[in-house]
Amino acid sequence: MSAPLQIGLLGRGTVGGALHELVDARGEEIAAITGRLPEVCGVLRRSEGDIGEILEAADVVVELMGGTDPAREYVLRALRARKHVVSANKQLIAQHGDELFEAARDAGVQLRFEAAVAGVVPVIRVIQESLAATEITKVFGIVNGTTNFILSEMASTGASYGETLARAQELGYAEADPTEDVNGADAAAKMAILARLAFHSPVGLDDVAFEGIEEIQPDDIAYAKELGLSLKLLGVAERVEGGISVRVFPCFLYRGHPLAPVEGPFNAVMVEAPTITEITMSGPGAGGTETATAVLGDIVSIMSGHAPVHEARRRLEIVRDISSSFYLHLEVADRPGVLAQITAVLGRNEVSVRSVVQRGHGDEARLVMVMHEGPERRFQSALEQIAGLDFLRAAPRAIRVIEEEFV
Ligand SMILES: NC(=O)c1ccc[n+]([C@@H]2O[C@H](COP(=O)([O-])OP(=O)(O)OC[C@H]3O[C@@H](n4cnc5c(N)ncnc54)[C@H](OP(=O)(O)O)[C@@H]3O)[C@@H](O)[C@H]2O)c1
Repeated sequence: MSAPLQIGLLGRGTVGGALHELVDARGEEIAAITGRLPEVCGVLRRSEGDIGEILEAADVVVELMGGTDPAREYVLRALRARKHVVSANKQLIAQHGDELFEAARDAGVQLRFEAAVAGVVPVIRVIQESLAATEITKVFGIVNGTTNFILSEMASTGASYGETLARAQELGYAEADPTEDVNGADAAAKMAILARLAFHSPVGLDDVAFEGIEEIQPDDIAYAKELGLSLKLLGVAERVEGGISVRVFPCFLYRGHPLAPVEGPFNAVMVEAPTITEITMSGPGAGGTETATAVLGDIVSIMSGHAPVHEARRRLEIVRDISSSFYLHLEVADRPGVLAQITAVLGRNEVSVRSVVQRGHGDEARLVMVMHEGPERRFQSALEQIAGLDFLRAAPRAIRVIEEEFV
């Protein structure tokens, strides 16, 4: 047996603590597979440890601190000292990927980050290794468990966004400060990473347009149920004419879509390519032991020697004007001719209607419409004109719909 593999642990919180336990519990197993026994040689916390001593002693540095400062500096120091690095930190990789990959390349060491996207679901390994020689056309899915839990709960209980967020916090599915999860920024960082790897283009956080779920109303979910739709916060990275589009947005899916039944704090990612049709991977997107399992898998891969390539071949254009289908919720005065005027505005803007649900409430009516797919700018122009109609009782609410139906 060779000398033990020394692991320097930067951060020993939820994931770092679980990893430390797993290394102790599974060490002999890993030694049997790789020929080296993994050992934690030093731990850095706010109150404990010395970064210089840990970098000196470690063969592999595992960054589980979170944030970009001082994580970026420590990871760069580790790479430049020719230490392999494993990180679960999506913001670090999404914001500083170019610099970190270059440092790893220059030093001839590995930088792995499977746990940064979709927890223990092995999406990065599949994109980088299993599908390495495949031209991926689209990667999309549910990459934030907090928002998926909130949307699933709102659909099953009818409770408001605020009430459901409080419940998610009680159950530990949402952090005390949930901003990055609910406004889509967390999912945007993960989609930037997936797009970079799938399309070999240096996609950064600024290239990702994102929207969150804070404005979603329970009746949007209830009405949409009648149309056979369920709501998810989706990340989509795809090749489009002229380049690529990378976005995060709340979105209705038809029953039968592989992502529609994904409920609770789970993640699911689909990959499409002409040679594979599509594959779907799903599982826990967070949790100490689950995330630590993905980190440990990266350590085993490093010990096995194979290095994935992070080469960005060329910068693809980011296309912002794309085609979508929309759900539209309108509260209007209940009088003759209203529906005709709305459809006239949609028609003038070349937006065609797929389905309509109408309900009367005293002298008011609610209209819920789903459009066929078309350029977003046409729908936005129709929406502006509809918002100015005198019979409207509240601001219109629009949510995208994935029109694709799977059988
Ligand atoms: N939790 C999950 O389910 C999950 C899932 C996927 C990815 N991740 C990612 O994994 C990483 C770790 O998450 P976590 O939930 O384990 O975080 P956590 O529980 O807050 O733990 C963070 C650890 O890092 C240490 N730390 C933070 N800033 C430091 C600094 N400036 N100097 C030294 N030590 C510092 C903390 O020290 P103290 O102990 O002294 O406070 C703590 O031990 C993050 O990047 C997160 O996004 C987490």
